[in-house]
Amino acid sequence: MATPWDEVRRDFPALSRHVYLNAAAASPTPRPVREAVERFYRELEEGGDLCWDAWREELERVRVRVASFVGAQPEEIAFVPNTTAGINLIVDLLAGDGPVLADEREFPTVTLPWIHRGVEVRFLRVGADGVVPASAYAEEAAPPAATVAVSHVQYGNGCRQDLKALGALKGRRHLVVSGSQSVGAFAVDVGGWGVDALASAGHKWLCAGYGAGLVFIRRGLLRERPPRTMGWLSVEDPFAFDNRAYRLLDTNRRVESGCPAFAGAFALGAAVAYLESIGKDAIEARVLALNRMLTDGLARDGLRVLSPGDPHRSGQTLVAVSDPGRVTASLAARGILVTEKPQGVRVSTHFYNSEEDIERCRAALRDLARS
Ligand SMILES: Cc1ncc(COP(=O)(O)O)c(C=O)c1O
Repeated sequence: MATPWDEVRRDFPALSRHVYLNAAAASPTPRPVREAVERFYRELEEGGDLCWDAWREELERVRVRVASFVGAQPEEIAFVPNTTAGINLIVDLLAGDGPVLADEREFPTVTLPWIHRGVEVRFLRVGADGVVPASAYAEEAAPPAATVAVSHVQYGNGCRQDLKALGALKGRRHLVVSGSQSVGAFAVDVGGWGVDALASAGHKWLCAGYGAGLVFIRRGLLRERPPRTMGWLSVEDPFAFDNRAYRLLDTNRRVESGCPAFAGAFALGAAVAYLESIGKDAIEARVLALNRMLTDGLARDGLRVLSPGDPHRSGQTLVAVSDPGRVTASLAARGILVTEKPQGVRVSTHFYNSEEDIERCRAALRDLARS
């Protein structure tokens, strides 16, 4: 049955106020996310610590849901506030292994935590088409490295990397992924694709709001390598309150080392349940169809698209304009929200956008280009 996208839009109050084409910055949340967080704060307001056990149980149900959403096992998932926190946990485990390969236009969070720990990052050149093909990371083609660190979707031009191909050619190297610009829009199967670790915030394509992220670390790595940080809840029997001896959990939950950030995790759980109710495949197809409609239309309008097309297409389109600051502000004045980038404006198309959003954005860009 075709998804009733008009009904879906009604779940997002923000969409009746704005032409919201800015998921790559942050998405508005759908109603079930606020309801989940509200329920938690009402329980807290009315009962203090009374629901502690119920919340801990709910946290584990969310873990199962989130794990299944990205193709992981529940014990491989931990809740983190954002992508950066997750990447740092991953880098703590892998920094000792040697150099890292990355795309030269990679988001700073994917490269700086390695450099900060004294690891050399070897950058691969981006082609004129805005793409580093997966084949450039092959062992015979790339400089030697212990880890390949990539964004599934690049933040600047929206280039979607073929993670499955990277997983197939990584050899003995670790494959570390920022899913910040993809999880929620594109199906991810970390287990099936050979990803070793992935972190994603919840506030962009997952529609979960701020402070609601996840980090996946492959079970084998968790068993081999202890985390750098730990606390009273990282151990097998925290309620023994032993302050001298401990047995560390061998699951990723051990990095949630103190009292849980329940609200963020419940928001994430509600968002994932909401996305599942629409369907991952339906969402991915919708994101791609809207994006194709946008880029085809921009080409007809004579505007230059700097984002690669299929098969690297994502939900982000970088449109070249000569004065990105002025254009972004003029679009905002017309109620159209996008992000300013040095080379142009970044327009995001998520499943909750409509054909009319795209037409309005194109019409405004045409108008601004003329003036
Ligand atoms: C690809 C990518 N990775 C990581 C980040 C950092 O995200 P966070 O602020 O959630 O740590 C961003 C932010 O835009 C991003 O686009």
